[in-house]
Amino acid sequence: MEKANNRSRASYRTAGVPVSSLLTVFAHLLFIAITTLLLVWLLHFREGLSFTSTNKMKLFNLHPFFMVIGFVLVSGEAIMTFTTIPARRRTRKYFHMFLHLIGLGSSIVGLFAIFKFQHDTAKVDLLTLHSWIGISTVSFYALLVVSLVHIVYCD
Ligand code: HEM
Repeated sequence: MEKANNRSRASYRTAGVPVSSLLTVFAHLLFIAITTLLLVWLLHFREGLSFTSTNKMKLFNLHPFFMVIGFVLVSGEAIMTFTTIPARRRTRKYFHMFLHLIGLGSSIVGLFAIFKFQHDTAKVDLLTLHSWIGISTVSFYALLVVSLVHIVYCD
């Protein structure tokens, strides 16, 4: 049985490196590439980021910035912590929770930015499929993170 287990684990290795490690390295590289491209796009081609500027494009830009880097990428890192952090399970769990809290905080700031942008440019809120799917996604994510905090503290 032990031998069979070892053999099946070995089948998930490439040249001695577990496939899960290769995938997480690839995921980190994607994190860096997407962040770089997004920053070049927002800072070089779209005038930058600001909550207070009179240039409202800078306020709008905060929405993709926080949604993509904070919400999508950091929460992706949070999901991978159990594979990527070489520490005890308890430490990994705290990292997992900490990164998800950053993801949730970013999604709230990103939503605040787009609602403020819509308000400041006299646009009507929540008219598109994107906006409703977005609100639902962030709401379910908030429920997920609150339940995670509860699990971590009650464990
Ligand atoms: C998971 C990521 C995202 C979520 C949860 C999300 C959520 C939302 C929400 C709730 C609104 C409605 C705001 C309102 O009606 O006042 C909105 C609007 C908008 N978002 Fe996003 N968003 C995300 C990513 C993005 C990205 C990456 C872009 C562009 C690069 C973008 C572009 C826009 C635009 C142009 C609007 C205004 C038009 C509309 O209401 O559809 N969003 N977003």
